[in-house]
Amino acid sequence: MVTVYRCAPRPVREVAPWLVRPELDRVERYRDAAGQARSATGRALLRAAVAQRVDAPARDVVVEQACPHCGGPHGKTRIAGWSDIHVNVSYAGDVVLVALADVPVGIDVERCSRVGFRGFDEVALTEAETADVRAMDPERRDRARTDLWAQKEAVLKLTGEGLDRSPNTVHVGIGATRVDDPRAVLTQVPMPSSYRAWVATVDPPVELTILDGAALLEAAAASARTATGR
Ligand SMILES: CC(C)(COP(=O)(O)OP(=O)(O)OC[C@H]1O[C@@H](n2cnc3c(N)ncnc32)[C@H](O)[C@@H]1OP(=O)(O)O)[C@@H](O)C(=O)NCCC(=O)NCCS
Repeated sequence: MVTVYRCAPRPVREVAPWLVRPELDRVERYRDAAGQARSATGRALLRAAVAQRVDAPARDVVVEQACPHCGGPHGKTRIAGWSDIHVNVSYAGDVVLVALADVPVGIDVERCSRVGFRGFDEVALTEAETADVRAMDPERRDRARTDLWAQKEAVLKLTGEGLDRSPNTVHVGIGATRVDDPRAVLTQVPMPSSYRAWVATVDPPVELTILDGAALLEAAAASARTATGR
């Protein structure tokens, strides 16, 4: 089963008390307040989701992130001491998503307005996908491109490769929910019409539960206040 927590970005000052130094450094690398809020909320929501699952304070969850190439604190996140809990984070615009699962998982959310630029098809799509997208009615093309982009990123986040593997080497195909290389199944996350979001897992298909991330953050904040007596 995969649980997806969904919420809007929260102001950094609200969620910063749960974050540790490398996370705050990452937040501060974003120059705009919106980027900072997305990054901070993603990590806080991830911590709150795991904390609830393992019954520990959110700040005590140890999130590991080590790039296989340079060893730096980026790449796929893992939860120290809990190899059977799988997590992945994605954020875009006004949306932050965290996937928590008992199987390896990748999640990606994208805005439909971000794919209509020149060169997108060459970077993101296979030749067959490009031909199929261009054969569609013009008003449906960008939604199809956004689906393919979010699906491919979810798959590449499932494997941990991220954009180290070019998305134009991953064939999904319009309307498909299975991918052969790398092997994955895709499940759509319901979103407002200007966004598309997908979860990728390995066979068999999973059941998605969508929960309110804002309520989870509220509950985690309340339990932190109780613990500190404030
Ligand atoms: C993973 C990646 C595709 C995410 O792209 P994005 O659409 O901008 O970002 P999203 O909002 O969907 O996801 C961001 C989250 O994905 C997760 N993530 C990052 N790299 C990941 C990977 N390789 N696999 C799975 N998840 C990854 C992180 O949790 C990240 O959030 P955080 O940085 O706050 O912890 C992209 O950042 C990437 O591939 N980068 C790799 C390039 C790189 O830096 N290579 C190594 C150089 S040494």
